[in-house]
Amino acid sequence: MKTFTHSLLLSAAVLLSPLALAQASNDAETLAKGEYLAIASDCTACHSQEHAAKPFTGGKAISSPVGTIFATNITPSKAFGIGNYTEEQFANALRKGIAADGSHLYPAMPYTAYAKLTDEDIHALYSYFMNAVKPVDQPVPETELPFPMNLRFSMAFWNALFLDDTVHQDDPEQSESWNRGRYLVEGPTHCATCHTPRGLLMQEQGDQFLAGAQVGPWYAPNITSDKVSGIGSWSKAEVVQYLKTGHVEGKAQAAGSMAEAISYSFQHLSDGDLNAIADYLATVPAVNTASDNRFNQGEPGNKLAAFRGKDFHEDTSAPGARLYSGSCASCHGYNAQGTEDGYYPSLFHNSVTGEANTSNLIATILYGVDRETEAGGHVFMPPFGDQPNALNNLDNQQVAQLSNYILDMHGLKGTQVTPEQVAEIRAGGAQSPLIQYARVGMGVGVVVVLFAIGLLWHRKRKK
Ligand code: HEC
Ligand code: HEC
Ligand code: HEC
Repeated sequence: MKTFTHSLLLSAAVLLSPLALAQASNDAETLAKGEYLAIASDCTACHSQEHAAKPFTGGKAISSPVGTIFATNITPSKAFGIGNYTEEQFANALRKGIAADGSHLYPAMPYTAYAKLTDEDIHALYSYFMNAVKPVDQPVPETELPFPMNLRFSMAFWNALFLDDTVHQDDPEQSESWNRGRYLVEGPTHCATCHTPRGLLMQEQGDQFLAGAQVGPWYAPNITSDKVSGIGSWSKAEVVQYLKTGHVEGKAQAAGSMAEAISYSFQHLSDGDLNAIADYLATVPAVNTASDNRFNQGEPGNKLAAFRGKDFHEDTSAPGARLYSGSCASCHGYNAQGTEDGYYPSLFHNSVTGEANTSNLIATILYGVDRETEAGGHVFMPPFGDQPNALNNLDNQQVAQLSNYILDMHGLKGTQVTPEQVAEIRAGGAQSPLIQYARVGMGVGVVVVLFAIGLLWHRKRKK
């Protein structure tokens, strides 16, 4: 009898389990797992304007090449957030880019990556957001992209073409760590949304996985296993150190969106997970995009003699060297050698000055560096752009002169920066040609875009 009721209960539990799973769990283990995944996925980077004070309340403006998209309130507020989302609707938003009301999300929400999330991890995330995040009744501004990008349904075509919504599957041929690393890189940590170049329709180019891409004013470099143009020359320990502190001496530092990703997200991953990421990255197919290794360009030196003894304000020779001496040498050293403890990095043997894409050099000068990690402390370089807290504002011409001086003395020789490039980075980076087509004339624009999408769709279906 006892075994009978037991098995009856058991079968009832089995029958009920899909239902039970559709409801948020409230046990400490699931909530902790959900919180860890929310950190690994960096939900806060986009969905919080004030990360510490009001997490997940949305309203942050995400500048995309086609216009500004506002991240929504994802606290469990019933009026303004996702309080009414079922677990299935939550899963559809994360993995398919479809909101609860059936409308399509823009891929500024990285659902192309979160599509890899397992059911179990979706469940943990849902439980965390529903039970452990404080509901905040706060509206967010409406996203209004210019026509034709405001036609959300066009994302259905885009998804049909470019969304691979197959959930992650372990490869039995590979180690547990490699599989975990692949899951983290392709899914939660969404490295590819920044590091993989995009095509005309903003889709990630699969054959160029992690081969380097522009993200607003910054450039997310090639991090494939290529020994020359990727990070194939880094040790695994260096990759782990970079993700934990944003700093690897004589190689690279993290500013801009990478500094944010490290501060909010990657530094909090377990050592096991960071090593897993390094294990997997070492096997990402090498893509050769540059003939020079950006980590060993340039050398120490100065041109002080060019203006020594001359009146600093009246003499106009060697403008780059003078700007360097006046604005940068106090921290990076008169020979750009940095400090012995490496807190102020050398500007030679530095990925930013050795890279043919000069965005990060220009952006560093304009926006500075501000990064905080447990292992590396607070790292700060003041901005020299047009910020209210700028040390001293440099105009486009001056930033170009300074950059060219640094590139010639300490970086990839022969690389040139123009004042126009500086203006573009100052304005937040290049706009997508898509929107320019669209602006040629509303009618022409939508025809061009829909035709291009239709053509690609047709081609893909034929394959
Ligand atoms: C890179 C930026 C970014 C990250 C990271 C991000 N989101 Fe989003 N998310 C957005 C944007 C932008 C929107 C609104 C898109 C739109 O309006 O089409 C959005 C929309 C959503 C929606 C639909 C909300 C609604 O109002 O119906 C949900 C749910 C959501 N995100 C959850 C998450 C969760 C959970 C995470 C972490 C696992 C996350 N997001 C990470 C940018 C992001
Ligand atoms: C939000 C965009 C974004 C995401 C997500 C992102 N990165 Fe980055 N990454 C960047 C940018 C921008 C830089 C350049 C930073 C700089 O030089 O100041 C960068 C730099 C790097 C570098 C240093 C390369 C060099 O030559 O300087 C490594 C390594 C790296 N990222 C690895 C990763 C990994 C691994 C992931 C996923 C776990 C990831 N990134 C996710 C934007 C991003
Ligand atoms: C007050 C000290 C200070 C001054 C002045 C300063 N820097 Fe920096 N710089 C730093 C710090 C700190 C870092 C970040 C180190 C790190 O990320 O670990 C940095 C980083 C950099 C980087 C690497 C950024 C990256 O993303 O990898 C470059 C390039 C750079 N500085 C150039 C300059 C130039 C050019 C000037 C003059 C306009 C300048 N710095 C002035 C302190 C300074």
